[in-house]
Amino acid sequence: MKGHQLLEQRLRMPLSKYEKLLLPRRWQILGDLVLVNIPSKIVHLKHEIGDALLDLYPRCKSALWDKGVRGSLRTPEIEVIAGSGTKTIHKENRCKFALDANSVMFSAGNFAERVRMSTLGSNEKVLDMFSGIGQLSIPIAVHAHPQSIVAIELNSVAYHYLRQNIRLNNVDNIVQPILGNCAHVTLNAEFDRVIMGHFDACDYLLKALRVLAPDGVVHYHELVPEELMYKRPYTHVEQAAQTLARSADLLGTRKVKDYAPGIAHVVVDARIN
Ligand SMILES: C[S@@+](CC[C@H](N)C(=O)[O-])C[C@H]1O[C@@H](n2cnc3c(N)ncnc32)[C@H](O)[C@@H]1O
Repeated sequence: MKGHQLLEQRLRMPLSKYEKLLLPRRWQILGDLVLVNIPSKIVHLKHEIGDALLDLYPRCKSALWDKGVRGSLRTPEIEVIAGSGTKTIHKENRCKFALDANSVMFSAGNFAERVRMSTLGSNEKVLDMFSGIGQLSIPIAVHAHPQSIVAIELNSVAYHYLRQNIRLNNVDNIVQPILGNCAHVTLNAEFDRVIMGHFDACDYLLKALRVLAPDGVVHYHELVPEELMYKRPYTHVEQAAQTLARSADLLGTRKVKDYAPGIAHVVVDARIN
C-alpha cells in the first residue's frame, strides 16, 4: 500500500477527494521522530495527520511538521503536530547522531552520500568545512579510519551536537571539532581531502583549494538546474584551481538528491594537482 493510502486508512475520518489527493506521500523517520511536510491546503488536518503517523509508527514519540530550512546556517522550521519532543538519537550505518530536529537539519535524502563518504579517507588528513552535527565526519571516522578529521561548524547549536556525536561514536581521537566560520579559521595543516557539504560552497572554494595537498581531493556540493549538473559545478572547481595556478581533474559528478522540480543537489569529486 502506498504512503498516502496508509495515512488515509489511519485517519479514520471522511476526507474530500481534494484532501485525499493532497495527503503526504512521504515522510522521514529520524530516531523516534516522524517528520512530514504538509501542503498548505490541508493544514487544517495537521493534528489528525500527526496522530495517524504516530499510529503507523508506535515506537515514535512525536510527529513534526517539517516546514523547510532557513538561511545559510540551514536552521529548520518545525512544528510539533502530535506527541511531544524534538530531540532524538538517529542511528544509521553503525553511526549514532544525537540531534534536536527543532534546531539542526539532518537530510534523509543525503543517506547514500553519507554511506559513500564512509568508504573514503582511509589514513588521510580530512577537512570537513561545513560539518553540521557530523553527518559526514562521523561516518568517515567510524568506518574509514582516517589519520584525522578537522570538522568546522559555525552554528553553536550544531557544534554542541557535533561534540556530543564525537563522544557518542567514540571518535574523539580522530575528529577535532572547531566552532567558527571556515573562511576565517586558521588551518596550519595541508589536507588530503576537503569536504564542502553546503550549498554556498562556491564562495569558499579558494580557501578549500589553498589547504588541499598536491593531488588532494575535494568534494564540492552545489544546487544546480538539472541541465547544468554535469557542467557548472565542475567549472566552478576548475576556475578556482586555475586562479591558484593549479589544475583540476574531474573524478565524478553525482546527484545527491532531487532538491526541487528541475533542481539537483550535486557533488563533484575532483583531484587538484
Ligand atoms: C547543510 S548543513 C550540512 C551538513 C553536512 N555537511 C552534510 O552534508 O550533511 C551545513 C552546515 O554548515 C554550517 N555553516 C554554514 N556556513 C558556515 C561557515 N561559513 N563555516 C562553517 N560552517 C558553516 C551550517 O551551520 C550547517 O550546519
